[in-house]
Amino acid sequence: MEFTISDRMSKMKGSAIREIFKVAGDPSYISLAGGNPAPELFPNKELAEIANNLLTENPVLSLQYGVTEGYVPLKEKIKEMLIEKENISFDGNDIMITSGGQQGIELITKALVNEGDTVIVEEPSFIGATNAFRSYNAKLVGVPVEKDGISPEALEKVIAENENIKILYVIPTFQNPSGETMSLEKRKAVLEIARKNNILVIEDNPYGELTFDGNKMPTIKSMDTGLNVAYSGSFSKVIAPGLRVGYIVAPTELIAKIAVGKQISDVHTSILPQLMVYEFLTKYNLDDYIKENRKLYAHRCSVMIEAMKEHFPKQVTYTEPKGGLFIWCDMHGDYDTKEVAKECMKEKVVFVPGSTFMVDMEAKCSAFRLNFSTMTDERIKEGIKILGNVLKKIMGE
Ligand SMILES: Cc1ncc(COP(=O)(O)O)c(C=O)c1O
Repeated sequence: MEFTISDRMSKMKGSAIREIFKVAGDPSYISLAGGNPAPELFPNKELAEIANNLLTENPVLSLQYGVTEGYVPLKEKIKEMLIEKENISFDGNDIMITSGGQQGIELITKALVNEGDTVIVEEPSFIGATNAFRSYNAKLVGVPVEKDGISPEALEKVIAENENIKILYVIPTFQNPSGETMSLEKRKAVLEIARKNNILVIEDNPYGELTFDGNKMPTIKSMDTGLNVAYSGSFSKVIAPGLRVGYIVAPTELIAKIAVGKQISDVHTSILPQLMVYEFLTKYNLDDYIKENRKLYAHRCSVMIEAMKEHFPKQVTYTEPKGGLFIWCDMHGDYDTKEVAKECMKEKVVFVPGSTFMVDMEAKCSAFRLNFSTMTDERIKEGIKILGNVLKKIMGE
């Protein structure tokens, strides 16, 4: 039969990252592309034991339908963690378990955005979120990410120039893809601007715990006395992404509407992984695992930066993140990193061209994203050397 794809989906393309993932899974390629956590950090033995116990001792709870908002003890446990670690208040806020952070962003969009409404994003931004906004036919408007986050003046200008603005989506800590972190002053200013203009901020924070030096910036949600922020969290980067367990903390009224949307999407997040995360958080000290994550990622990041210093042409600039999984590079000038990525793929090195993370994905972009979390030191060094040579060839150095 011939399908007529909906207007909503006909303009959507598969993510370039997913295309790159197809070859990135091939071990003969050096992948600096994905955003996967290091698999050697997965607590698989602990999770195997937990799953086995749950299925043998608690089969009905583990396999029966659950509640849309999530397994209550898990919600309470996350609440406790957020109050203690992030200073987030639950006065007027509620929590819901989602199938990864990705679903939370999509469900908020479903609840708030009408066709043609404006969503403001940092530029560059996470493609999973920008595509979620696109899939509801939102008008995307970007505010450039600077070294310390988006500029409040630029944000105010964008707000003055656009109508029906529903959401401001930000990743203030170890941003994907730039690796940058928003300063405290800018966090306060951004929240105040959102409050004044009655715009909901989505604060997406999957990387906040992955700080290399242990220093943490207060979340925007912790300053949110006016209930202007929906906070999205995830266990993907600190336990395992395949579990698909994330959460949203948002004003109670919004959570209620999101729950209706979730019933339509997937009824509830799979109960077994929710129980597994709950048991893991109860039996083990998550902070011990996080310390291991921080150590490995800080090391791999420094290996990559040292190799970049040695092999990259001098004109190429790059961020030096203090956490997270990504480095953002810029060739500057009239270059198209989609073409650079094709050249590199011939040499069996993959990374993500910057246009993927832009509002206008078709425009030429001289920037690109590198990931340092999954390759060994040797593969990182080899990959950066090959990429550096391709860059030098293209830039005539
Ligand atoms: C900024 C950001 N938000 C959300 C997600 C979604 O993660 P998950 O759905 O696995 O929780 C990712 C994944 O890479 C991300 O980089």
